[in-house]
Amino acid sequence: MRFEDKVVLITGASRGIGKATALLFAKEGAKVIVNFNKAEKEASNVVKEISRIGSDAIAIKCDVSKEEEVKKMISEGVKKFGKIDILINNAGIVFDIPLFEKTVEQWNRTLGVNLTGVFLCSKHAAPHLRKQKTAAIVNVSSTNGLDTLSTESADYDASKSGVISLTKNLATELAPNIRVNCVAPGWVNTDINKDLPKDYIDEETEHILMKRFGRPEEIAGVVLFLASDDASFITGTTLVVDGGYN
Ligand SMILES: NC(=O)c1ccc[n+]([C@@H]2O[C@H](COP(=O)([O-])OP(=O)(O)OC[C@H]3O[C@@H](n4cnc5c(N)ncnc54)[C@H](OP(=O)(O)O)[C@@H]3O)[C@@H](O)[C@H]2O)c1
Repeated sequence: MRFEDKVVLITGASRGIGKATALLFAKEGAKVIVNFNKAEKEASNVVKEISRIGSDAIAIKCDVSKEEEVKKMISEGVKKFGKIDILINNAGIVFDIPLFEKTVEQWNRTLGVNLTGVFLCSKHAAPHLRKQKTAAIVNVSSTNGLDTLSTESADYDASKSGVISLTKNLATELAPNIRVNCVAPGWVNTDINKDLPKDYIDEETEHILMKRFGRPEEIAGVVLFLASDDASFITGTTLVVDGGYN
């Protein structure tokens, strides 16, 4: 088991990619801090699933865009497990709305959760990560951060480009003991895409060499790789996981 005795904090772990990542870390021996913002029942089910797997977890409510809540989450997590070895910045939201119909509140909310959240969680986890001989952060960006797909997600795309840029700065700031990397998924079957029209999904699927959307577990596997010793010489990088989009 690659993560025996490790403690991992995963933001947005109540559903989707974060949940799959939490379960995979638990299967590999890690204790998991399962962050959620709204989905309390789902988060507590993730904790139950982790205890069935034979590991330990705690669910903590926190809006990652709010500094006081982030500080509280991290101190509660450290109180429960004594340390944090790995931070996965996964929480994210999107408002698919025509660009100039977006309100400044929606714009700021997207940037607040998807980008400022990564900064805040990294900032307040860093003192705990620094206490470990080796530690890691993995950020979840998106291929939208590399190549914009649609003007309706301009704020999301900017936030995800920001995460790729911040990954490099965090890697620089926290080297050499803390590695910081990023995963840029393409289309993945999760709630975030549940309202997409079927013909748009079909059209996008045609662009994917694997001819399907990804499964959350297929992103989780790459997140675990980047957090593991198998990636001990990788930092500051972004790995695209999109089934070959063209
Ligand atoms: N699915 C895709 O196609 C895709 C592609 C590229 C990148 N991504 C990225 O992958 C990450 C996970 O997305 P997903 O597809 O798994 O979406 P999802 O199923 O909608 O899950 C989003 C998670 O983020 C949490 N969250 C939202 N706002 C939060 C906040 N303010 N504070 C803390 N947690 C918050 C949600 O928790 P609550 O329900 O409790 O609010 C939920 O656990 C996101 O960063 C997303 O941008 C997804």
